[in-house]
Order: sequence, then structure tokens, then C-alpha cells
Amino acid sequence: MNVVLLGPPGAGKGTQAVRIARVFSLRHLSSGDILRGERKAKTELGRQAHDYMDRGVLVPDDLILRMMMEHIGQADAAGGFLLDGFPRTLAQARGLDERLERQHRKIDVTVNMEVDSAEVIRRLSGRWSCPQDGATYHEVFSPPKQAGVCDACGAALARRPDDEPDVVSQRLRTYHEETVPLVAYYRERGILETVSAAGAVDEVTAAVEGVCRKRQ
Ligand code: AP5
Repeated sequence: MNVVLLGPPGAGKGTQAVRIARVFSLRHLSSGDILRGERKAKTELGRQAHDYMDRGVLVPDDLILRMMMEHIGQADAAGGFLLDGFPRTLAQARGLDERLERQHRKIDVTVNMEVDSAEVIRRLSGRWSCPQDGATYHEVFSPPKQAGVCDACGAALARRPDDEPDVVSQRLRTYHEETVPLVAYYRERGILETVSAAGAVDEVTAAVEGVCRKRQ
């Protein structure tokens, strides 16, 4: 099964992606995490993406499509993948479908995670991430066992620079302008499922898992 998680920044796509990928044995591919990895490794792609990410606007479609298709083409994604943060524009969605079709593959379900902007701001203003393994915490909703330290690897947790309030506002605008049209795109193709992402993490997992099972 191949799954897309769609939703605004802070909807909990990354949080849910880790759980859902485990349940269905899917390769979790987060475009944001891959880009942050490229930046950390100081690659040419990371250098090109840097400025867009820090401003809260989208990295150009051609760079993203090339990067994501490379990962989708790897052996560990052959048994099924879960896309988190990609596609994010109509051009990316169409480009993904065309390229998958050539490989006789397709997206089976797109889960649209709905949550309002006030909740997004609450979530992003309390988010802490592990720069080593990408684990995500929230200082109120899902705190680490020891404040400021990753449960899994012990590294010091950090705030993402794009979680500053003015960048979050820009990310929300970008989402409404560029990504919301994908809801209609996937609905027309008959593969859209919508869940409320406003509840607690376990409730959202149950909802996402339920709609994926229907499409399995
Ligand atoms: P990216 O890293 O993809 O950011 P995003 O989509 O804005 O999503 P986030 O990672 O901020 O949020 P999330 O939905 O994963 O929420 P999370 O689970 O962390 O992209 C960053 C940048 O990279 C973009 O701005 C762009 O520049 C570039 N980029 C990436 N992909 C691109 C693409 N395809 N095309 C072009 N450019 C691209 O949860 C958030 C917080 O809430 C956490 O603290 C978590 O613990 C907490 N939380 C989660 N669920 C719940 C819950 N149910 N209740 C309470 N708290 C919760």
C-alpha cells in the first residue's frame, strides 16, 4: 500500500507517519526530514533548499520531485511507502502520479488531516525535535522523559528555526495557497479520506489507521 498524509504544518503528519508506517510496514518518507538531512550534510540540494525553508515557502517543484522519486525508487520502498509532506503542490502531485504510473505503481489512499490554525500554532510553539534521529516532542502534549533530552538517543533537543511565529504564519499561508488544492485533486481521483487531527495523538492514530485499512 502507498499512502500520502496531507495536512497543514503541525497537523501531526510526522507524529502519525512514524506510527502508521510501523503498523503497515511502510517506508516513511518525509520531504522535510530529507531536506533537513541534506542541509546537515551540506549537499548542493541542502544549500539550495536552505533559504526557502527558513522563509516558510516551498522549495521548487523540480528539486523536490527529483529528490522524492530517488527515495521512492529505493529497494526499501518497494513494499509500500508513506509520504509525509509531499506532494504539496498540484505540479508535484501530477508529477508523482505520472512517474509512478510509468513504474506500474500508484497512490492507494491520501489521508487529509484536518486541524484549525489555532491548534497548529499551539502545537508548533511547543515542539522540540531531536537533531540526531528526528524524533518529535511537545513540551505539554508529549514531553520527553527528561526535559530537553531525546528519549531514544539522548541527544539535546532543539527548536526548529521555522517554528518561529512569523515563519509559522507564512507556512500556513503557503499551505492554504499551494497545498489545499490537492484535497480536490485526490477527491476527484476517489482516493481521499478525511480525518480530524484535532484530538489526542492516540485518537488520531486510530482514525488514520482505520481509513488506511479500508483501502488496504
Ligand atoms: P516539513 O518539515 O514537511 O514541515 P510541515 O509540513 O510544515 O510539517 P511539520 O513537520 O511542521 O508538522 P507535522 O504535521 O509533521 O507535525 P508534527 O508531527 O511534527 O517542511 C518544512 C519545510 O521544508 C517547508 O516549509 C518547505 O520549505 C520545505 N518542504 C518540505 N516538503 C516540501 C515539498 N514537498 N515541496 C516544497 N517544499 C517542501 O507535530 C507538531 C507538534 O505537535 C509536535 O510537537 C507534536 O508532538 C505535536 N502533536 C502532534 N500530534 C498531536 C496531537 N494529536 N495532539 C497534540 N499535539 C500533537
